[in-house]
This record gives sequence, structure tokens and C-alpha cells, in this order.
Amino acid sequence: MRVLVVGGTGHIGSYLVPRLLQAGHQVIVVARHAKPQYTPEPLGWPQVHWVVADRRAEEEAGTWQQRMESIDADIVIDLIAFTPQQNQSMMDAFGGRIDHFLHCGTIWAYGPTERAPYEEHHPRRPTTQYGIDKAQIEVDLVTAWREEGFPATIIHPGHISGRRWLPIDPQGSRNGVGVYERLAAQEPVHLPDLGLATIHHVHGDDVAQLFHRSIDRREQSLGQSFSAVAPYAMSLLGCCRSVAALFGTEPNLAYVPLPDLRAIVGDESFAIIESHVVHSPCSSIDKGRRLLGYEPRYTTEQIFAECIEHLLESGQLKI
Ligand SMILES: NC(=O)c1ccc[n+]([C@@H]2O[C@H](COP(=O)([O-])OP(=O)(O)OC[C@H]3O[C@@H](n4cnc5c(N)ncnc54)[C@H](OP(=O)(O)O)[C@@H]3O)[C@@H](O)[C@H]2O)c1
Repeated sequence: MRVLVVGGTGHIGSYLVPRLLQAGHQVIVVARHAKPQYTPEPLGWPQVHWVVADRRAEEEAGTWQQRMESIDADIVIDLIAFTPQQNQSMMDAFGGRIDHFLHCGTIWAYGPTERAPYEEHHPRRPTTQYGIDKAQIEVDLVTAWREEGFPATIIHPGHISGRRWLPIDPQGSRNGVGVYERLAAQEPVHLPDLGLATIHHVHGDDVAQLFHRSIDRREQSLGQSFSAVAPYAMSLLGCCRSVAALFGTEPNLAYVPLPDLRAIVGDESFAIIESHVVHSPCSSIDKGRRLLGYEPRYTTEQIFAECIEHLLESGQLKI
């Protein structure tokens, strides 16, 4: 099959494209730079057919849809559509002439957790513009499937993580290596409230696995949404304990009311923590398991271990 991956060199694409190539697909990748960002270039990537283009610039110039219309593909995976308008132009460009269209959403489309674990059929109650737009894209795609047979599948990843970039850390932020240094040295790490807010990671390769399985089991995935997350969510407290254990220590935790964290971690980091605390995501993978055979390779603990290994090897983290 000819598979077009729009935005195929980032966190997801770096794992997805080699998987598709290994499965024997012809892969066309759209990006501004013809280079994977997170997996080794010599492994498979020379087989990629590159379309070097700036989507934003072409959308503004009004030439993007035309470019998409000129591409001959059986399957389209759009990893970088953030607005219903962007998605509509993809539906217009490919409607009636492809076998499968897969859109990358986000668990932020679900909104703050009300019932855990969250299942894909629960109501969407997004609270951020990002989540609202992704939820609308999902509605548009599912409606197009029901009314016109547009062959859509939506994958909603958790906090995407991997070896070569910092995951959402055990404090709920992404703030350099400081929290890892403090956990290793048993210095205080401040957590909001009781430290029981949850985060729900997923390794980039597991997101890729779910996209790949959706293609392989097309009949089960058409018109459906799936959460791409690790087997279970973890509390910030649990993440701190797990990371400290990697260094052979117990975490030295200090609990403060959420608003008080701002003065401790700074505005930028606080905004990230607040968003994660407010959402406290915890999603089920039962549907992906049942319909697609999704079996994530990485737990959150393994994601942290892999990332810390890389930070140590690359000299970014010194303990
Ligand atoms: N990151 C997360 O934790 C997270 C969580 C849930 C959902 N998501 C969803 O995941 C998707 C993003 O996937 P990702 O994390 O793999 O992305 P990423 O790592 O940010 O990579 C973005 C990809 O798009 C390309 N790209 C960026 N701007 C472009 C432009 N203007 N024109 C053409 N190509 C462009 C990049 O290559 P170049 O730079 O070379 O152009 C790269 O291939 C989004 O739909 C997001 O909502 C992310």
C-alpha cells in the first residue's frame, strides 16, 4: 500500500515510518526537513519518498489542498492537523479516493477525568482550545464516516515519550533534568496537593503500534476512536517513587497546595503542571486491545527508565 504520513519525522513518525516500511508499505512523508528527528536515519529511512513542504505556509498561501490532491495514496495518516479547517481540507483532498484516513488526536479532547479509567465512548468535555478543536475534528470525521463512508480512524495519544526527549516528569512538568537530579540526591521535590493527580504517558513506538494495527485491522478501526496510552496511568507520587527507586533512593516529597507551586517552579513550568493536574488523565486501553490487539510495550516506569538511561549516557544528567 502507498501510505502518506503528514508530519512523519517527529515523536510518532520516527517510530511509525520504520514500522510501515518494515511491513512492506511504500511510505511518503511530508515534513519541512527530510530527516527523522528521533530514530537513526540509516535504518529504513532511505526508502522514504520525501515531500518537503511547509504545511502552515502553504495553507496560508492556499496551495496546500492542491498539493494533497496531487498525491496518490491508499492510506493517509495526518499527524499534524490541529483545527477543523485543516482537517476539512484533508477530507476534501482525499474523500472518495483512499482506503483509510487516520487522524492523530489527543486525550486532551476528553477533558478532565470524571470517571476512571476513561473509555472512548464516554462524553468529550474538553476545556482547552487545543482539546476543543481536536474533539471537533473527531466529530467531523466520525460524521463523515457515518454519512458518506469517509474511511476515518482517530487515535488519541497520552503524553508522548521516548528515549531521546524529556517525558512529562514526575512533578507533572517538562522542566529540564532538575527533578531527576533532586530525586537522585533525595532533595525535596514539591508536589501539588497530595501528589495524587495522575499522568498518562505513552511511548512513541506504542502510538505507532496503534496506528499500524488500525491499518492492519481496518474493518475494526473504521469510524472508531482509540486511546493510545500506556497500560495504566500513574499518580505524581507513584512516578516520584518509581524514579527515585531507579537511583536506589526514596523520594523526599513536600506537598503544597497547587497555586503555591507557581512560586516554587516558575510560571512556565506551573502552567504545564496545572494543565496535567486539572486533567488528571487516566484512560482505558481495553477497546484497542479488544478490537485491534493493541499491547503497549512500555509502562510509565519503563518510559522513565529508558529516558533516564539516555540522559545519563548523553551526559545531560549527572548524579
Ligand atoms: N506531544 C505529545 O505529548 C502529544 C500528546 C497527545 C497528542 N499529540 C498529538 O501528536 C501530534 C504531533 O505528533 P508528534 O508529537 O509526533 O509531533 P512532533 O514531534 O512535534 O513532530 C511534528 C512533525 O511534523 C512536521 N512538521 C511540523 N510543522 C510542519 C509544517 N509546518 N509543515 C510540514 N511539516 C511540519 C515535523 O517535521 P519538520 O520540523 O521537519 O517540519 C515533524 O515531522 C499532534 O496531532 C498532537 O496533537 C501529541
